Amino acid sequence: MDTELRLKKRRLIIAGNWKMNKTVAEGLELVQSLKRDLANVKEVDVVVCPPYTALSEVSKEILDSNIRLGAQNMSEHGSGAYTGEIAAGMLKEFSVRYVILGHSERRQYQQESDALVARKALAAHAASLKPIVCVGESLQERESGATNKVVETQVRGSLAGMTKDQAAETIVAYEPVWAIGTGKTASSEQAQEVHAFIRSILTSMFDEQISRRMRIQYGGSVKAGNAKELMSQPDVDGALVGGASLEARSFADIIKNSL
Ligand code: PGA
Repeated sequence: MDTELRLKKRRLIIAGNWKMNKTVAEGLELVQSLKRDLANVKEVDVVVCPPYTALSEVSKEILDSNIRLGAQNMSEHGSGAYTGEIAAGMLKEFSVRYVILGHSERRQYQQESDALVARKALAAHAASLKPIVCVGESLQERESGATNKVVETQVRGSLAGMTKDQAAETIVAYEPVWAIGTGKTASSEQAQEVHAFIRSILTSMFDEQISRRMRIQYGGSVKAGNAKELMSQPDVDGALVGGASLEARSFADIIKNSL
């Protein structure tokens, strides 16, 4: 990325969403390799989001590194009779700093609504966890010209009720559903167009100073080969990486190619 653009932009945040992959042993092996490969990377916030079961061990393994920890979901509640759920305070025990909320897979398979995502995001902030709030249109919505409408509804609904200070600490991930796990990436122009649109919504919800500080990640088939071009777009401030984050070399190459 050219120096002038980098100075103007926000610090990149590149997160690996492992989804329902990796045993503890496999997760440890992955972060051990990442620690070696990324030891000299200081310019980017690097985050890994293992499944809950690997948080404890991965947390210990990355203690002395520049890799930070994220979770893939959390409950909107602080504690109580919610079988199978995990609260923000429990994540904090493992030094988790980020939490992915409203991923399209959760919106699709667990029927998560914008209102629920907003309640979870407020609960995350209350525990000083930074939410990574995911939004994005389906293929059918894009083809019918509804992208902006869908994304605007999701951004407004999922960040509802946040203070300006909380918004500034929130990361939005634009993940077109048709690009997730399909090998189809949005072109850098398509990504930039939606990212700029999202930033304009954030300006209208909060203010320009806040929206300029907020980081908007792109997600959907990000690979080493397309990372540089995507990350060099003025409103793209990082990546949320699924498949390519499961292997140390490909995740590390994404990060190195983004510098
Ligand atoms: P992908 O997933 O990189 O495998 O497309 C991205 C995501 O779902 O966060």
